[in-house]
Amino acid sequence: MRILVTGGTGYIGSHTVLTLLEAGHEVVVVDNLANSSEEALIRVGELAGRQAAFVEADITDEAALDAVFAAHSPEAVIHFAGLKAVGESAGIPLEYYYNNVAGTISLLRSMERHGVRTIVFSSSATVYGEHNPSPYVEKMEIGAMNPYGRTKEQIEDILSDLGASDPRWRIALLRYFNPVGAHPSGRIGEDPQGIPNNLVPFIAQVAVGRREKLMVFGGDYETPDGTCLRDFIHVVDLAEGHAAALRYLEEHAGVHRWNLGSGRGTSVLEMLHAFEAAVGAPIPYEITARRAGDLPAFWADPSSALADLGWSTTKTVAQMCQDHWRWQKNNPLGYQSS
Ligand code: UD1
Repeated sequence: MRILVTGGTGYIGSHTVLTLLEAGHEVVVVDNLANSSEEALIRVGELAGRQAAFVEADITDEAALDAVFAAHSPEAVIHFAGLKAVGESAGIPLEYYYNNVAGTISLLRSMERHGVRTIVFSSSATVYGEHNPSPYVEKMEIGAMNPYGRTKEQIEDILSDLGASDPRWRIALLRYFNPVGAHPSGRIGEDPQGIPNNLVPFIAQVAVGRREKLMVFGGDYETPDGTCLRDFIHVVDLAEGHAAALRYLEEHAGVHRWNLGSGRGTSVLEMLHAFEAAVGAPIPYEITARRAGDLPAFWADPSSALADLGWSTTKTVAQMCQDHWRWQKNNPLGYQSS
């Protein structure tokens, strides 16, 4: 298949491009490099033994997208491109709605003009909001709690309306839980710009000496060890989930929603200790105040993805930490290290 991947130089995008190339697909990546590096794609090409095509463009630029559809004739799209920092989204909501929501509308309009109606969308477990008990199941009423989450929710609504308007659309909404880890080669991985917002990238930067210690946000939650529980998923498992969704859409039209998670909760301190085991050294940390907006615990019910896609996670928390650490150790400054 010929597949257009938006945001394909990013963390999840680059791992997915590698999975697609390994499965024999032709890939063209569109990315504006706002938070990522083209070096990721060069390394993906080295690992796969062949390259993805790359076009530096913004998804809000419909003319640029039209040119990509005309030149590469993709048959399906996997859509990752978007801004993803929750805290930042509260400060600059217009940037989030413009890039994420308007950008997706621009992409979908261009797809329609070129008769491409198969799309896998990068959504998030954050759409479940605070009212739903874990484990989350796809049929729950969604309701995100911040502008970033609402962009994901709005895009899900737009795609659902589009699917209802025309039976030719084939749409997968993939709700990711907490992606961590890296390709086992240590060549590609997560490369956050500035201070990492997410737990494992922060731990990794402490372990490699770029930061002094981890701040554990809250030790007094009603959880077994007082720290929050999350459903961590290895990024390579997550990438495989996209390939599985695409295979499903080849056989099934309509709009489909799947959780991509392990179905297990792991606490912040358990994750820290698993990372220490991977590094073979203690990692300094301090328990501090809770972070606004954090939920005490959530995890996926991943049974729909297993039933429909034959997909489930295969990698353990220990593997997530070992692979994440190999990437961080070999590339202490991320892609800038090369
Ligand atoms: C966050 C976002 C979510 C987004 C996801 C992936 C919030 C409220 N949610 O999820 O919308 O889809 O990232 O980008 O931001 N922690 C620390 N110290 C740190 C960093 C994190 O203790 O330095 C804790 C957090 O309090 C939380 C857990 O680690 O309990 C996981 O945090 P994080 O990696 O940011 O993921 P989520 O908050 O689950």
